[in-house]
Amino acid sequence: MSKVILVTGGNTGIGFELVKLLAQKPTVEKVYLGARNPKAGGDANSRERSLSNVEFLQIDVTDPASIGAAKEYIEKKDGRLDGLVNNAALGEFDKNQKATEIDIGLLRQVMEANLFGLIQTTVAFISLLRKSPEAAILNVSSELGSNSSQSKSGQFHAVAYNASKAAVNSYTIALAHELKEDGIKVNAATPGYTQTRMTGYNEIARSSKEGAESLAPWVLLDKDGPTGSFFDPHGKEFPW
Ligand SMILES: NC(=O)c1ccc[n+]([C@@H]2O[C@H](COP(=O)([O-])OP(=O)(O)OC[C@H]3O[C@@H](n4cnc5c(N)ncnc54)[C@H](OP(=O)(O)O)[C@@H]3O)[C@@H](O)[C@H]2O)c1
Repeated sequence: MSKVILVTGGNTGIGFELVKLLAQKPTVEKVYLGARNPKAGGDANSRERSLSNVEFLQIDVTDPASIGAAKEYIEKKDGRLDGLVNNAALGEFDKNQKATEIDIGLLRQVMEANLFGLIQTTVAFISLLRKSPEAAILNVSSELGSNSSQSKSGQFHAVAYNASKAAVNSYTIALAHELKEDGIKVNAATPGYTQTRMTGYNEIARSSKEGAESLAPWVLLDKDGPTGSFFDPHGKEFPW
C-alpha cells in the first residue's frame, strides 16, 4: 500500500534523515516533515527538492492548537495516517541533570516535549491512524530510557531526559496493548548514540543517516509486524 507518514521534529538530525529515507521507499506515498519552527521546516523541505512527496507541516508537540491544525490538514488532504513517528525531543545535556540537583523547571520543560508532547500528539492522531488498514506508531526512545539497562550498567544519568524516555517506554507498552484490537502496531526504538545537535555532533557517534536507517523498519510494518516491543539499533529487542 501507499503510506502517508508524519515525522515530528523532522527538520534536523535523525528526524530529517528519516523523512528522506522514508520518502524514497516504494511503499510510501507522502511524508510530512513536521517541524515546530516554520523557517527551519521550510528550509529543510527545500533542501530536499528532489523528493516531491515530502511536505513541511508545522507542528509543535507542546502546542495543542498546532497539533489540532496539523491533524485537520492531514485529514482533509489524505483522510488517514499510516505512520506516526514521535521523534521530536529535547536533550538539554548541557544543563545540570543530576538526580540530587535537578531544576524542576528544566524537568518540566523536558517532560513537556518528550512525554506530554508525545502523548498529546499521539492521542490527537489516533482517529486518523484508525482509518489506515495497516498503521504503525514509532516512539523514538533511547537506551537511556531503559530502566533495566540503566540500573545495571549505570551509563549516563541525565535525570530529565532519561526519566522522560523511561516514561515514553511505559506509555508505549500501554498504547500497544490498547491498540492491539485495532491492529495498530506500536513500538519504541532507539537509534543509538548518533551525531546530531542533541549530542553536540560528537564524532565518535554514528551518522544520523545510520540512526534513521535503524528506525525506518518500525514505521513500515505490515499486518504481521511486531507490536509492544523496544528495539535496539540492530533490530534486536532491547530490555525496557
Ligand atoms: N542523537 C542521539 O544520540 C540519540 C540517541 C537516542 C535517541 N535519540 C532520540 O532521537 C530523536 C531525534 O533526536 P536527534 O538526535 O535527531 O536530536 P536533534 O537533532 O536535537 O533534533 C530534535 C528535533 O526535535 C524537535 N523538537 C524539539 N522540541 C519540539 C517540539 N516541542 N515540537 C516539535 N519539535 C520539537 C527539534 O526542533 P528544533 O530544530 O525546532 O529545535 C528537532 O527537529 C529524539 O527523540 C532523541 O531523544 C537520539
